[in-house]
Amino acid sequence: MSAETVIPVPAEWAARAKVDTARYAEMYRQSLGAPDAFWLEHGRRIDWIKPFTKVSNWSFDEADFGIKWFEDGVLNVSANCLDRHLESRGDDIAIIWEPDDPKAEPRRISYRELHAEVCRFANVLKAAGAKKGDRITIYLPMIPEAAFAMLACTRIGAIHSVVFGGFSPDSIAGRVQDCDSNIIITADEGLRGGRKVALKANVDVAVESCPSVKKVVVVRHTGGEVAMTAGRDFWYHEAAAGVSADCPPEPMGAEDPLFILYTSGSTGKPKGVLHTTGGYLVWASLTHELLFDYRRGEIYWCAADVGWVTGHSYIVYGPLANGATTLMYEGVPNWPTPSRIWEVVDRHQVNILYTAPTVLRSLMREGDGPVTSTSRKSLRLLGTVGEPINPEAWLWYHRVPGEGRCPIIDTWWQTETGAAMIAPFPGATDLKPGSATKPFFGVALEIVDADGKVLEGATEGNLVVTRSWPGQMRTVWGDHARFFQTYFSTYKGKYFTGDGCRRDADGYFWITGRVDDVINVSGHRMGTAEVESALVAHAKVAEAAVVGFPHDIKGQGIYAYVTLNAGEEPSDDLRSELVKWVRTEIGPIATPDTIQFSPGLPKTRSGKIMRRILRKIAEGDTSNLGDTTTLADPSVVDSLVANRAR
Ligand code: WT7
Repeated sequence: MSAETVIPVPAEWAARAKVDTARYAEMYRQSLGAPDAFWLEHGRRIDWIKPFTKVSNWSFDEADFGIKWFEDGVLNVSANCLDRHLESRGDDIAIIWEPDDPKAEPRRISYRELHAEVCRFANVLKAAGAKKGDRITIYLPMIPEAAFAMLACTRIGAIHSVVFGGFSPDSIAGRVQDCDSNIIITADEGLRGGRKVALKANVDVAVESCPSVKKVVVVRHTGGEVAMTAGRDFWYHEAAAGVSADCPPEPMGAEDPLFILYTSGSTGKPKGVLHTTGGYLVWASLTHELLFDYRRGEIYWCAADVGWVTGHSYIVYGPLANGATTLMYEGVPNWPTPSRIWEVVDRHQVNILYTAPTVLRSLMREGDGPVTSTSRKSLRLLGTVGEPINPEAWLWYHRVPGEGRCPIIDTWWQTETGAAMIAPFPGATDLKPGSATKPFFGVALEIVDADGKVLEGATEGNLVVTRSWPGQMRTVWGDHARFFQTYFSTYKGKYFTGDGCRRDADGYFWITGRVDDVINVSGHRMGTAEVESALVAHAKVAEAAVVGFPHDIKGQGIYAYVTLNAGEEPSDDLRSELVKWVRTEIGPIATPDTIQFSPGLPKTRSGKIMRRILRKIAEGDTSNLGDTTTLADPSVVDSLVANRAR
C-alpha cells in the first residue's frame, strides 16, 4: 500500500463478511473471466416467472450495437419486491416513513401492508386507463405513496418516469412531452424543511402544454387547497376506496422497459435514460446486499430523494427486492436543526446510512456538537454517493458520526449505470479516504487518454467501461442514435462515463469529476447547456455561457457569464431577476451562484466559446489562462478578468 492514509478492514468485519478479501478477488476474477457463468448464478437471486436460459447478448460496436441481459426470462419487479416476501417476512417492516415535521407521527408499513397498498394503487391506475407499456409520470414528495406508485407501475407493466419534486412546470412538461406520458401522479403539496411545495399547481401549469395527459391522480398529503379539473383530475384516496387489494402481477420480459429517468448531459435537453426489468433488478439488489452488508431485520436509510436514481435503486428497488427495511425521509437533513439526521438515526435505530458528500460538508461546518449530542450507537456502516468526497469530509464522517467503527462505503455510479459500479466491500476492501476504491463484480474498467489510448498502471485520464453489465441503461428514450452517439462514439467499443479518474499504484480508483460540460451541484447533475438555454430565453439576454466552479459545500457552484441585448444595462436588479428566472425555468437546483455581465465572450475565430478560460476565471485562477491567441478578440479576456464577479 502507498504512503497515504489506509484504513484496513477491521478484523470483526473480515470475520463475518459476506465477501472477504480473498473471495472478492476470486469472484471479481470469475465475473470477468466467465461472465455468463457468473451471472447465470447471480441472476437467479431474484424470482423468475420463466427462468432465463440466455445470459448476455451485447455489443458496443456500431455495426451490431445492442445490450440484452437474461433476454428470454420473464419476471415482475413488484412481485420480487413484495409477493415473494409475504410468506417468509410478511410482518417485517418494509418502509419506515419519517415525516418532515419531527413532531408528526412516523409510519411503519409491513411487507403485507405494502403489498396491499401497491395492488390498490395498481388497480386505481388500471381504472384510470393505464396499460402495459404506458408512460406514467410521478411527481410526488418523499411520502410512501411515491414507492406505492412506482411499484404499482411495475405491477401492471407501465413505465414510470419520476420527476424530482423540485423541478419547475417547464421541466415537468418537457419530460412528459418527451415520453408522451398519459397519466401524472402528484400530491396536493410537498413539505420540505417546513416549507410547502405547490406540486399540484405546478402540474396544472405543465399540463397546459401536454396534450398527451388524460388523467392526473392527486394524493392528499398536506390537505392544502388545490384546483381539480373535472374529468381529468381525481383524488387518489377516493378512487382507492373503490378498488380491491388484489392485482396479479403482469409477466414482463427481462428486457421490457422498467422506468425512464431524465438526466442532464453535456448538450441539449435532458435525456430519458431507460432501464429494463431483469438486469436492473439483479444489479440493484446484488449491490445493495453486498456493498451495504445488508442483514435481515436491519434498518437501512438511504437519505436521497426518489426523484433521482439513488432513490430508485437504493430506497425502493434494491432494498425491497432484498426484503429489507428501508427508511424514507420526507425532509432535509439539517432541519429544524443540524442534529436532525442523527436524531432520525436514533429515533429509528438506523444501522446503515447512505448520504451525499454535500450533506456531510454542510454538517461539518456546524462543528461536532450537533452530532455528539446524539447517540448513533445503532450505526454500523456509512455510505456516500453523488460526487467525489474530499478526504476531510470522509475522515470526519468516519471519525465523528461513525466513531471510527463504521466502514465508509463510497459508491461511484451514474443514472446510466443503474446502481453502484466502484465501491469498497466492507469486509474485503481496505479503505482510502477519497477513493471509491475497486470495481464491483463484472465491472471492467479502463483509463484512457483523450485519443483513446489505454493507460496502464498508476495513471490519470478518462474512465471507460469495456464490458456490459446487467444494470446498464439500454437506450435513450425515443433516440437510440443519441444513446450510441453519447456514450459509445468517443472511444470505439467502450462506454464513456464522462468522468475523469486517477488509478493509484494499488489499483484504487479516484474519480476526479466530470470532464464534459456537466456540473455536479450538491450531488445534482446539471447540464451547463440547460442553464444557458434558460438564460437566453430571457428577453434581455443575448448570449450566455455557464461553467462550474469549486464550491466548499456544494462541490460545484454555477457561474454564468451573460451578455445582454443591445440597449440593456447590467444592474443588481437584473441579476436577481435572472436568478429568479432560471429558478422558474428549471427549478431551484439550477440557481446560478454568480452572474457576471460581460459585453463579450471569449470565442475562437470559428465562433466556439473557450470554456477553459471561463472556468479558470470562475475559479479565480487568472494567473495562467493558457493560450488565448486563437481567440477572435483576445482583449475580451482582460475585460472578463477585470470584471470578475464575487
Ligand atoms: C455523476 C453521476 C450515482 C447516483 C447519483 C448521481 C458523480 C457519483 C460519485 C462518487 C465521485 C461521483 C460522477 C458521475 N458521482 N457518485 N462516489 N464519487 N463522483 O447520479 O446524477 O447520474 O451523476 O455523479 O461525476 O458521473 P448522476
